[in-house]
Amino acid sequence: MTNTTTTPQYPMARDARCPFDPAPALHDQQEQAPLTKVCIWNGTTHWLVTRYEEQRALLADPRVSADVFRDGFPLAAPIVGNRRPGFIVQDDPEHARLRRMVTAPFAVKRIQAMRPAIQKITDDLIDDLLAGPNPADLVEAFALPVPSLVICDLLGVPYTDHEFFQQNSKTLIRLSVPPEERAAAAQNVRGYLTDLLAQKARRPGDDLLSMLVGRVEAGELTPDDAAGVGLLLLIAGHETTANMIALGTLALLQNPEQLALLRGSDDPKLVASAVEELLRYLSITHNGRRRVALEDIDIAGETIRAGEGIICPNELGNRDPRAFAAPDDLDLTRDARHHVAFGFGVHQCLGQPLARLELQVVYSTLYRRIPTLRLATTVDAVPFKNDGVVYGVYELPVAW
Ligand code: HEM
Repeated sequence: MTNTTTTPQYPMARDARCPFDPAPALHDQQEQAPLTKVCIWNGTTHWLVTRYEEQRALLADPRVSADVFRDGFPLAAPIVGNRRPGFIVQDDPEHARLRRMVTAPFAVKRIQAMRPAIQKITDDLIDDLLAGPNPADLVEAFALPVPSLVICDLLGVPYTDHEFFQQNSKTLIRLSVPPEERAAAAQNVRGYLTDLLAQKARRPGDDLLSMLVGRVEAGELTPDDAAGVGLLLLIAGHETTANMIALGTLALLQNPEQLALLRGSDDPKLVASAVEELLRYLSITHNGRRRVALEDIDIAGETIRAGEGIICPNELGNRDPRAFAAPDDLDLTRDARHHVAFGFGVHQCLGQPLARLELQVVYSTLYRRIPTLRLATTVDAVPFKNDGVVYGVYELPVAW
């Protein structure tokens, strides 16, 4: 598709008046039509799917592809090299084959068994936070270490190396970084994981990477695929949840009556519904679920032609008044479970049971243990991640 000068640009920075809301122009487009056209960084135009129903229909449609190497794919940024960052950008049957290799460790029951360990990690980090300087940066001291420690434990990655892979994953998901630098960061972590997998082949442990080594030895996975799966899990495992912790805390501090409700309740159902509502309200994976049509698809009175790109921004689907009443209100008591913050269809988030559990533990612990927690700066001074694949804050200065 070629560009026309009148086509709006995607992505757009969030609303300057309320940093949790999508750009006002996107809201307007949702009002006007379920499908519209947008232009992206490389001058090509694609379909922007603005409404919840149409997003879910397209993401569940087998006639769309998540393969970034297909012609017409609406790339979020230039690609360097020919390496795929895991099965998230592959189609079935190869996607399903690789995903199945790591489905069991993310099953709800297996993940629930991690609750005591996650609670301990959370409590220990809060102890350290309280013993350290006040004010402090919540991202550095708490929001990033919680999921990072958890995913390291699950994968069998030594947490002592966290600075190395946190630094590289930060680079990898920042779209304003030159593509060569992002590719180098991916290669650094992939190389690191390849070495770690080789060590695990010599001394296997009771962890997910050792399980992948077993698959390689059984001839079910190539060593390169195993490193690719490890890379995807390591990056997805901490960048997302960390942003939900920090941005969620900011959203709650800005909505003190909602925070009071959460802090004052012992009801695990309210905590669970608070997690779903914050996932919906914040929609941190805000760069659009991106696909390309494999065949002509008729939808909402339009025809998406084979080879045309499709962008489904979940920050818009999750704010569609047709799916959620008063969608711009943060209401922890609403039933928001049908949100699309974890995507929809075959690529729906594999790690969602883990993300949910981590967020339930954190949201039910942090504000109770530090009831005086407050922002140590103004919202205007908080650096938001408008240039990232995942939305959030680079820092969150807090005091208590
Ligand atoms: C709050 C936290 C999280 C959010 C909001 C989130 C969001 C998402 C979304 C929207 C997708 C769909 C991508 C697409 O359709 O193109 C996805 C896929 C994925 N997520 Fe998450 N995620 C979170 C946490 C995690 C965690 C903790 C892990 C695990 C370690 C994880 C692993 C994955 C994987 C492996 C996929 C690819 C699934 C596939 O392609 O079949 N995520 N996530």
